[in-house]
Amino acid sequence: MIRRMLVFGATGDLFGRYLAPALAGLIEAGQLPDGFAVTGAARKDLDPAAFRDSVAEDLARYAPEVSEEARTKFVEGLDYAPTDVTDDGDVARAARTLGEEPILAYLALPPGLFPDTVRSLAGAGLAEGSRLVLEKPFGQDLQSARELNALLHESFPESAVFRADHFLGEQTVQNVLGLRFANRVFEPVWNREHVERVEIVWDETLALEGRAGYYDSAGALKDMVQSHLLQLLALVAMEPPATLGEQDFRDRKVEVFRNVKAPAGPEAEKKTVRARYTAGEVEGSEVPAYVEEEGVEPERSTETFAEVTLEVENQRWSGVPFTLRSGKALGRDRREISVHFRPAERLAFGRNTEDPEPNILRLGMDPDTMSLDINVNGPGDLFTLERVGLDAELAPQRPSEYGRLLLAALGGGSMLSIRGDEAEECWRIVEPVLRAWREDAVPLLEYPAGSDGPAGKDPQQKRGDRT
Ligand code: BG6
Repeated sequence: MIRRMLVFGATGDLFGRYLAPALAGLIEAGQLPDGFAVTGAARKDLDPAAFRDSVAEDLARYAPEVSEEARTKFVEGLDYAPTDVTDDGDVARAARTLGEEPILAYLALPPGLFPDTVRSLAGAGLAEGSRLVLEKPFGQDLQSARELNALLHESFPESAVFRADHFLGEQTVQNVLGLRFANRVFEPVWNREHVERVEIVWDETLALEGRAGYYDSAGALKDMVQSHLLQLLALVAMEPPATLGEQDFRDRKVEVFRNVKAPAGPEAEKKTVRARYTAGEVEGSEVPAYVEEEGVEPERSTETFAEVTLEVENQRWSGVPFTLRSGKALGRDRREISVHFRPAERLAFGRNTEDPEPNILRLGMDPDTMSLDINVNGPGDLFTLERVGLDAELAPQRPSEYGRLLLAALGGGSMLSIRGDEAEECWRIVEPVLRAWREDAVPLLEYPAGSDGPAGKDPQQKRGDRT
């Protein structure tokens, strides 16, 4: 396992909120090797002590569940190197703080800085066995993703490149495979004959949280749909892999993407929604309009809500809509995959009964829950159907999603890394949508912060499901 880590962008949100808590959690669980060391690298001219103080504060805020002893141990092992990633000398110097061993170089940076950082790392002469982690979004469109893949492969083998998508470290996401393939009851009905539609929803109460520098040039489609939600779609739709090895697993995912038709032209207009939040109240706190947030350039027309309906055009799924949707500053958190089955025939109960409601399987994330809505005969009339939910809650996940991802990246595995061709396929799918939105072929709607999203666009509201 790699014992040295260099984090670019270490003064940013990602390190403080996710990576540092995950690493401290791994230390607490004894899952990192002795002598594990991390150097933070960022533009700010900080000394190591000031960096340690600010990480300690982040840990107190974002990782209160980790023991103070583990947090302190992690913080004491931190070093800091002021670094301009476009400067080869700076990058080499930052890498040298970690000695001659292989390192894990983590690019917690906006995607525009990836090419320069990769070039600087290639010139720094890293020890054999070193790896690079690139955060999503991988590039900014299909062309830049292709160029970035080519640039990486000039200096690093694919096995040294780890394209991170933290959703792959989510317990429920991994459980989609177990649920589908280890249960007799789901797989036989997991197809177009029995499934009417699938919804993959990631609604957040979280607003911009000071991330304009990254988010305003990304937007919900690139931030969530192109990466995380397409990964969820792949797991729901994939054929069973021959093994859970990195090749078979990723081949099956790529196959799904290759079968998704990119919704071009009028399709992109009909099957997508984009919107941006206006001022409102979320969970009792005032949220300013997105365009009023510091660092936002309103003329960019960045969306904070994106919905895209796709079809997987293969034998199993043809004709079944997969709706992927995510929005910020919404009234409640709803993070779930829901599989809506076709309604049962009503013949079983004769003509004088109501139509049975369709079964819905919901896989909730964060907290990780599962529920299956079914119909049973109520206590009264034999012909009256009653709706009940079979509910289960999974134990909270340990290690955290980033913890799992970091263990995989440090340990040399690639199953949880997005392969280069996969990243390109995901861009191919969203590219026509990006184009249609850029050309204003789809109106940019508005929704008040704290609401359910743009009026009439909530998939559950539209269809009157149980919530
Ligand atoms: C990140 C996105 O990748 O995922 C954020 O950039 C989003 O905008 C986040 O809030 C959601 O994941 P989690 O695990 O923080 O709920």
